Amino acid sequence: MNIGILTGGGDCPGLNAVIRAVVRKSILFYNSKVVGILEGWRGLLEEGLTEELDLEKISGILHKGGTILKTSRTNPYKIPDGEKRILENKRKKGLDALVAVGGEDTLGVAAKLSQAGVKIVGVPKTIDNDLDMTDYTFGFDTAVNIAMEAIDRVHTTAESHNRVMVVEVMGRHTGWIAIEAGIAGGADIILIPEKPVNLDKICENLRKRHERGRDFSVVVVAEGAKIALDEKKREKETFIIQDECKDAFGHVRLGGIGKLLAEEIEKRTGFETRFVILGYVQRGGSPTAFDRLLGTRFGIAAADLVHQGNFGKMVSLQGNKIVPVDLTEAVAGTKYVGEELYSIAEVFSA
Ligand code: F6P
Repeated sequence: MNIGILTGGGDCPGLNAVIRAVVRKSILFYNSKVVGILEGWRGLLEEGLTEELDLEKISGILHKGGTILKTSRTNPYKIPDGEKRILENKRKKGLDALVAVGGEDTLGVAAKLSQAGVKIVGVPKTIDNDLDMTDYTFGFDTAVNIAMEAIDRVHTTAESHNRVMVVEVMGRHTGWIAIEAGIAGGADIILIPEKPVNLDKICENLRKRHERGRDFSVVVVAEGAKIALDEKKREKETFIIQDECKDAFGHVRLGGIGKLLAEEIEKRTGFETRFVILGYVQRGGSPTAFDRLLGTRFGIAAADLVHQGNFGKMVSLQGNKIVPVDLTEAVAGTKYVGEELYSIAEVFSA
């Protein structure tokens, strides 16, 4: 069998673990050939963006961040004849089946191609952990650990200077990184998109904490959090965005709420406040053991599904089991932070 594999969307620690597992299982156990499709869906829209992946090519990549296949946010459905070109190139390359490794956008394309008859299996990837029907995506654990370490470091400088420190983390429209890294890092306030709050309430909590004798605080805010600056409004009308440009999947670039929040906190409370935006640091570098293992388990399961002929599926983690779920259903929803985790964060807030 000839299998094409691609990685799409934002890069993410653990991608190379998936590639390595798919290639090794397919070659050594199924006698198949694996072709790497470069730069996400772009690699199937344009000719010449593929390379055969032999055992040599995937050797020594497990611990490396990023993706040896490179990635892009190319959306074939925004390109004239995009689907047709993908189908044609897939045929020309002699690919019997595809493994698509990505988040909601990449797997959304995979689901559409699956409905168009392509034999495809999806592997859920994102540091945001916002994909439905899987308990975890690989990459998330690494991002949480990086953010937690940053919060630890910010803690000591906040304490030394009697400052409020605001730490902005990624996560797009969900607060998974913020809530898990915030709880693990002992943040005093955690702000997530799922729970819009009024700025007055945040300042009141900080004042109360400082009246109790604490003279520093750490606030963790998700990039997609909405905060009401005006008392009468429950939340700010729009997200804080870096620019108006949208990517091929219609996403604006979030980021900057940390700065705004720090300025407003200082203005309203008089507490000296600084901010730090963690940004792409959360996505780069070596994956944690958890993500290497999860990526490997997902890759092996994807190779098995392909060779069993079980297409139109996404591999997922349910409890501690790897389970195939329907790809179209999986990309239909977003997984948000639930009450249980949020109520834990509340016990420790300011
Ligand atoms: O989806 C992963 C993510 O890192 C988000 O947390 C963030 O909002 C977005 O990607 C950034 O996208 P880009 O790499 O296109 O700037």
